[in-house]
Amino acid sequence: AVVEEGKVTWQSPSNIALVKYWGKKENQIPANPSISFTLDSCQTTTTLHFQKREKSDSFEFELFFEGERKESFRPKIQKFFERIEEYMPFLKDYSFKIETSNSFPHSSGIASSASGMSALALCLMSLEKKLDPTMPEEYFTRKASFLARLGSGSACRSIEGELVAWGEHNGILGSSDLYGVKYTHQVHENFKNYQDTILMVDKGEKQVSSTLGHDLMNGHPFAEKRFQQAHENLDLLKEVFETGDLSAFIKTVESEALTLHAMMMTSQPYFLLMKPNTLEIINKVFDFRERTGLHLCFTLDAGANVHLLYPEKEKKESLDFIQTELLQYCQNGQYITDKVGKGAKQL
Ligand code: PMV
Repeated sequence: AVVEEGKVTWQSPSNIALVKYWGKKENQIPANPSISFTLDSCQTTTTLHFQKREKSDSFEFELFFEGERKESFRPKIQKFFERIEEYMPFLKDYSFKIETSNSFPHSSGIASSASGMSALALCLMSLEKKLDPTMPEEYFTRKASFLARLGSGSACRSIEGELVAWGEHNGILGSSDLYGVKYTHQVHENFKNYQDTILMVDKGEKQVSSTLGHDLMNGHPFAEKRFQQAHENLDLLKEVFETGDLSAFIKTVESEALTLHAMMMTSQPYFLLMKPNTLEIINKVFDFRERTGLHLCFTLDAGANVHLLYPEKEKKESLDFIQTELLQYCQNGQYITDKVGKGAKQL
């Protein structure tokens, strides 16, 4: 079809990894498989305006973030376009205006690359679908994830919900290094509507970009063992999802978070991304579990903020505890309550 101009809007969520992606090969191929909960309310909304033009040899796009021109995003988007051009040969036939906004406070230290890159990938797929209206649904979803991966690895896990795996792994149906796949194995009702409260410990700029972080796994003394462990932990989680064993869930998820940080602490150069308040929170979570027998646990990304995961049926007690005892460790008392979500949607 011929498409002269138009616009399309997608809203795409963030995700939180349970088994962490840390280390990559050429072309954004993960060194190990990962799995994440798709989030619900932490999301990016992106509108892509497109207008047909004479084909030229450079990309043309304007960038707006929360209503204002945002030139600082340009290098990242330029690089993204360069990477995906071979899969989207029509990109240089259009001039674009890309408007985005986030549901979470910016500079909250919440990474927006997963929600942002997946939202943009979906918008571009919608344009491709206008050019090729017979495109099957499954192709759309898969290619959106494939493109999102080329923007930011973890973004490929944000297209669908509620659990998404990325990276080839024997036990996971359809898994691929090239895109995320919806986890279709049995999931116990304990994990339905799992909650994630994100504590903003430190809103400062990330000390290590994830690009640098992944690179540090090249030649890392523990790399091979770590990549193997990720496979083992995926197997463990698969069993946990089947049985609903929350104690085993906690053991695997918390170990994954600490291992991610251990990798950063033992690379060369080394990075210490936890803050004193990160540790205060973790210790309080241990105490709380000891005291109550409940199943609140933590996980971390490559930063100081803490994600607190807990089953919906323990929501009241967990949230009470968080609000009375943990907010003192947050910058300006800032936190976000979120839960597992169903993936991106077109608006
Ligand atoms: O998607 P990237 O390249 O920003 O890497 C994200 C890595 C972690 O958030 C630390 C772990 C993960 O699997 O999401």
